[in-house]
Order: sequence, then structure tokens, then C-alpha cells
Amino acid sequence: MSRSPIVGGNWKMNLSLGEAEALASEVRHRLGSYPGAQTLIFPPFPYLQAVAGRLGDSPIGLGAQDLWYEGKGAFTGAVSAAMLVSVGCKWVLIGHSERRHVFGESDEIIAKKLRAALHAGLKPVLCVGETLLERQAGQTFAVCGRQLRTALQGLQRSELEHLVVAYEPVWAIGTGLVASPEQAQEVHADIRDRVGDILGMDFAAKLRIQYGGSVKSSTAAGLMTKPDVDGLLVGGASLLAEEFAAIVRAK
Ligand code: 13P
Repeated sequence: MSRSPIVGGNWKMNLSLGEAEALASEVRHRLGSYPGAQTLIFPPFPYLQAVAGRLGDSPIGLGAQDLWYEGKGAFTGAVSAAMLVSVGCKWVLIGHSERRHVFGESDEIIAKKLRAALHAGLKPVLCVGETLLERQAGQTFAVCGRQLRTALQGLQRSELEHLVVAYEPVWAIGTGLVASPEQAQEVHADIRDRVGDILGMDFAAKLRIQYGGSVKSSTAAGLMTKPDVDGLLVGGASLLAEEFAAIVRAK
């Protein structure tokens, strides 16, 4: 089963408005007509509309880094799925490890966020991954499995047509400790099996699974040669247009 590659740049809490606009223009210039992979970028909330303007009608997908699951109301500081749609977002990260571990969000909150994204027509990138302690305790597969199961429980395949899963081991994020292609492959294969158990093997065979955690242009191609690694989710290296373009073009 061949799955088309998908590579995302998560800008996290970085850049000024001017820098974000310039980076978006540069990413469009370098990747806007690249047919080899689908490219997504996830700027901070305040820059989404300006970045949408810079991306124009290019095929580069615009996404937000998070959302809150309620529709509207007294949720100071939160941003709803409908708000994201209204400023031009098509994609959203759900359950990024920094939301889980820095902001303390539970599997249950993340499951509600996934439903809110789907309800609004946003395409979700559902992030899962274990901490170093969990890996050392031999719990990697169980942790990712639990995160997947809680998020996907009760959802229909028809609702999840655009789902992308990102495997982002917490110990690899922002540390320079990229997972080896073999480490990524064994978890990706297990994620695909578990999604197959929940939603059927034919669904799982089409699911695109990204790897994230300290990816650089020097490591991207090795990761992408693995059969179950369908793309990459890039943090720090996505802030440099040339480096990000090299990663997207790595396969
Ligand atoms: P780094 O590439 O900076 O390790 O971040 C990965 C990540 O969290 C992408 O969502």
C-alpha cells in the first residue's frame, strides 16, 4: 500500500508577526509547487490569518497548534474549532506532547478536542508518544495504544477519513535525540496494528503516520525509508525555510 508523504512544520511559540509572514512566503516559494509530499505549517494563533494570506491558493496546508473543544462562551484564552476555520485553517494538531505534558491535558480532554476538530471539518493530526521513563519501563506500545484508544473510541471510520497520526516520543522532542529509523518503524508498525484493531485493517493500511522529534535534513531521508513512516512532524528545523524544504524533499 503506497501512502503519499505528508510533512508538517510546527512553529510552536516562536517568531514575530513579520518573521512568520516572511517564513510563510519563503516556504511557499520553496515548496508551493513541490509535488512529492504534502506540506503543512502550524503557526501560532495570532499569525494564522496573515499566514493564510501569504500561502494564498498554494497547496500548502495551514493548521493550528491546538484548539479548545467547546463551541463558544466563557473560556478565557481559548480558541474554538470554528474560529480556526474562519481564519483559513484546514488542519489542527491534537494532543501534542507539550499540551499533554506542559499543560497537563488528559487523554479525555484530547479525545474531546479531536471530536471538536472533526465536527468543524478540520483535518486532525493526532499526536501520541511516550516519555523517557515510560520507554525505559517498556511501556512505549502500551502508552501510545492507550492514547490512541481513548482518542478514537466511538468514532466512525467515515469521520476519520483525513486523520493523520504523529508519533512523537517525548524524549526526542527538542532534545537532539532523534529516534533511529528502526525505533520509529517498530512503533509506527504497532500504531498501525492498533488502529487496525479499532477501525479495521483496510483503514489502517491507508492511515498516514508521521514521526516527530529532533528531525533534521540529515536524518529525514533515513526515517522516510521505513515502510510505516509516511511523513515527519518538524519543530525547530521548520523555522528555517531552507532546512524545512530539504526535509520535505528528503524522500
Ligand atoms: P523538534 O523537531 O523541535 O524536536 O519538535 C518536534 C515536535 O514537537 C513537532 O511537533
